[in-house]
Amino acid sequence: MKLPAAKTVIEPFRIKSVEPMPILETSERKQKMEDAFYNLFLLPASAVTFDLLTDSGTSAMSARQWGAMMIGDESYAGSSSFIKFEKVVQELTGLEHVIPTHQGRSAEALLMNALVKPGEVVIGNTHFDTTRANIEKTGAKALDLPSPSIALGLDDDFKGNIDLVKLQEQLKDSSQQVRAIIITITNNSVGGQPVSMENIRNTKELASSHGVPLFLDCARFAENAYFIKTREPGYTDRPIPSICKEMFSYCDAAIMSAKKDAFANIGGFLALNDSDIAAQIRSLMVLTEGFPTYGGLAGRDMEALAVGLQEIQDEDYLSYRIRSVEYFGHGIEAAGFKVVTPIGGHAVYIDAGKTLPHIPSTKFPGQSLSVALYEHIGIRSVEVGSVMLGHRDTETGEEHPAPQELVRLAMPRRVYTQSHVDYMIEMINHMSPHLEELKGFEFSYQAPFLRHFTAKFKELT
Ligand code: F0G
Repeated sequence: MKLPAAKTVIEPFRIKSVEPMPILETSERKQKMEDAFYNLFLLPASAVTFDLLTDSGTSAMSARQWGAMMIGDESYAGSSSFIKFEKVVQELTGLEHVIPTHQGRSAEALLMNALVKPGEVVIGNTHFDTTRANIEKTGAKALDLPSPSIALGLDDDFKGNIDLVKLQEQLKDSSQQVRAIIITITNNSVGGQPVSMENIRNTKELASSHGVPLFLDCARFAENAYFIKTREPGYTDRPIPSICKEMFSYCDAAIMSAKKDAFANIGGFLALNDSDIAAQIRSLMVLTEGFPTYGGLAGRDMEALAVGLQEIQDEDYLSYRIRSVEYFGHGIEAAGFKVVTPIGGHAVYIDAGKTLPHIPSTKFPGQSLSVALYEHIGIRSVEVGSVMLGHRDTETGEEHPAPQELVRLAMPRRVYTQSHVDYMIEMINHMSPHLEELKGFEFSYQAPFLRHFTAKFKELT
């Protein structure tokens, strides 16, 4: 008998604990959407069938993680759960000082406040929005140098890279003080695209030759390592943990939102080698975060993180993960929607501007598409276009659109099955011939900043 190889790409887990999924009629969803002023952030989760708003804090924990939580040590100082967590992070990153935080943005705030001064510059391959905000809050400038492939619309394997030519120009420019470089793996803000090992290594070399530290924002480090293994010459035979170790070997500090690649519902960390900065952060964090051996987390959270950080490096899991997001993306593309390619690690990004060319950016095609995906299929997505990233001129009332009108469908880890994904693709196929019927939207209320969270909309007729 000749059968396919044993390691086909399937979900490498079975399910022993389930939760019901709300399934509403289309008419009920339309009512819910109207009640939420057409803002998906204002929907109750109980009205959402497929919650693809984010992959952050929404993953399914394993039996091992839940088991570990039961032995969490809740001592105020020096708990054994912290010691376990510290050891796992030290082994993963090779960095000495490990500071737990309640999520990624508190690690960013602690590091930026300790390090960055007004007028300095922090360069990134594209800072995530909270990272940018934490840099700018110190009075420094947050500069993005994404790969040239983004602007050129090229489909290369490592579209998340930093632009090394522009980085060199910036570092040579003596009129500015570059305080740090942050590489985000994978690069969420350009579509969950990976960064190559070569790019990280070359960035480190450039940074060192100018005496500038390199930090990794490693929220999705294992997904990035899997892309390196499958796409970068020389890494095919390297185990994932060894690729992870090499990525971290180039950085001076790491900040992590562990709500992503640690399968945890809450948590993060900051790890670094500089003892003086670590001491400064540890003394300051007591004011707002908590004692340095818990940093706003319970002992049981650190137990779950310690297990999750190891589990995520399993290659069978990662091949299932990356393949299943790609399968979803290709299914949506085959239905006639325009998507960002290559498909990223944690999400499919639909280009709503190109999918709904009859709706101009001033009438928010991304909002229109995300409302339709909810009303007709029960999918909650997030608009990453002119609602989130554009702004209104407060004097003229004119809308300034964002460069792209995207809708992100982020996949929580180990939560939805292939049957769920097939159902979503099937329904998206049914929507496809009706896209021209979708209408634009206008704001009926918007807050002066971060308007997408609380905005209210009116559907145009
Ligand atoms: N860095 C990256 C690359 C992120 O994607 C996020 C969060 C953060 C930092 C901040 O971490 O939420 O734990 O404070 N991203 C989520 C998302 C919110 O939906 O992409 P946090």
